[in-house]
Amino acid sequence: MTTTDTAQISQMSDEFAKVSDVFSGSGEDPYPLLRELRESKRIIPGDILARFGVPSQADYGNKGRQVFTTFRYDDCLAIMRDTQTYTSSLLMDGLGAFLEDAMLTALDGDAHKQLRTVLQGAFTPQNLKIWQNDMIRPVIRNEFLAPLIPRKQCDLVNDFALQFPVRVIYEIMGFPNDPVAIEQFAGWALRILAGPQPDPEKAKISMAAAFQAAQDLYDHVRPIVAKRRAEGVAENSADLISHLLRADAQGANLDDHKITNIVRMLLPAAAETTTRSFSNMMVLLLDRPELLEQIRNDRSLVPKAINESLRYEPVSGFLARQASKDVEIDGVKIPAGAAISLANGAANRDEAVFVNGEEFDIFRQIKPNLSFGFGAHTCLGLIVAKMEIEAAFNAVLDDLPNLRYDPSKPKAKIVGVTMRGPQAVHVVFD
Ligand code: HEM
Repeated sequence: MTTTDTAQISQMSDEFAKVSDVFSGSGEDPYPLLRELRESKRIIPGDILARFGVPSQADYGNKGRQVFTTFRYDDCLAIMRDTQTYTSSLLMDGLGAFLEDAMLTALDGDAHKQLRTVLQGAFTPQNLKIWQNDMIRPVIRNEFLAPLIPRKQCDLVNDFALQFPVRVIYEIMGFPNDPVAIEQFAGWALRILAGPQPDPEKAKISMAAAFQAAQDLYDHVRPIVAKRRAEGVAENSADLISHLLRADAQGANLDDHKITNIVRMLLPAAAETTTRSFSNMMVLLLDRPELLEQIRNDRSLVPKAINESLRYEPVSGFLARQASKDVEIDGVKIPAGAAISLANGAANRDEAVFVNGEEFDIFRQIKPNLSFGFGAHTCLGLIVAKMEIEAAFNAVLDDLPNLRYDPSKPKAKIVGVTMRGPQAVHVVFD
């Protein structure tokens, strides 16, 4: 590893730690309180995230919007399904402020449908296969896992999981493979995520840094898009920028500015979420060495382990929607304009749907969990994310025998209220 590589990785780790810091609030494990609330009430007035001291998409920037919180599976699901009554444009106050009109999660109605349809066109079964075989698997195994094998010890977060999702999404986008630029882009994306802060004084600084990072990202991506357009696009190239340029040629009205914004929006959506999801799974399994060994010997259990860890420890444990008209849930009146914070992490453990929901059990009957959202805004990258986690996990199982926690280092712990994950996972192997 060169000095530049080490410096870039350390910059990414610093930015990653800052994001974790913002979303860990008081530092307490949110699940005991969420369980209590889920079992006693369907909906409460107020934003439970404010009580934990972390920024909430439901009232980004503390503008004084009235907020309610729901905890149960059926309620969260029903709200995400009903896009007429519960809209998403309030998310524009959050990340949308940095990511502008391509912020797909913040779009409603036809504007959402149009952009989603264009993007979805790239996620065909044929392209997904190409991405899996030619990009995801080789990139993760050869570029990121192979160099760790001779070291016999590593930090699975900072040496591995922080890096590969960024590289994979850039490969999928069709970016030139420039490791230094890619790490720099990743740092900017993390700085955007660290923009919101509950403390107004800190927020002034972090918001300014986030806007600057969004601008820097834009300024670096746009010339790449322009160059690709000038070079002309092959008819069947599988990368995303080619797909968007072809869609423009067919009348989708995507100029360089729009394509740049789409590309810029995808980075925060695709990278850190995958980093934390993979890392959470590794902690849950390293805590259960016999189970980890069982999975190593029976790879049919890999998808079960992935699904269950996504259910049990989702990265985005909370989503937000806004009532477009007066509604009532369980006798509680929600006026038009009020926001609802959806505690999807709590819903994922709802005993009415998941038997012994508070237990991690990879052998449970699979039911749809809410970790990738649900309905019109269901995560567009769901299959890609699962492919990445599966490729990374299989590579780890194949190439890091007798994987276990490093006894000389602090044991990994999943922390945070939302954006949950471990800060480091120090391991040794034979
Ligand atoms: C394990 C990793 C991931 C997790 C946990 C995750 C989670 C989510 C969630 C919860 C939403 C719904 C937000 C809402 O309804 O308000 C979402 C939307 C989205 N995700 Fe992911 N995501 C992951 C990876 C990815 C990847 C790899 C990509 C891109 C390749 C991606 C692209 C998107 C996009 C574009 C949307 C917006 C969809 C829409 O609004 O129609 N995500 N994601």
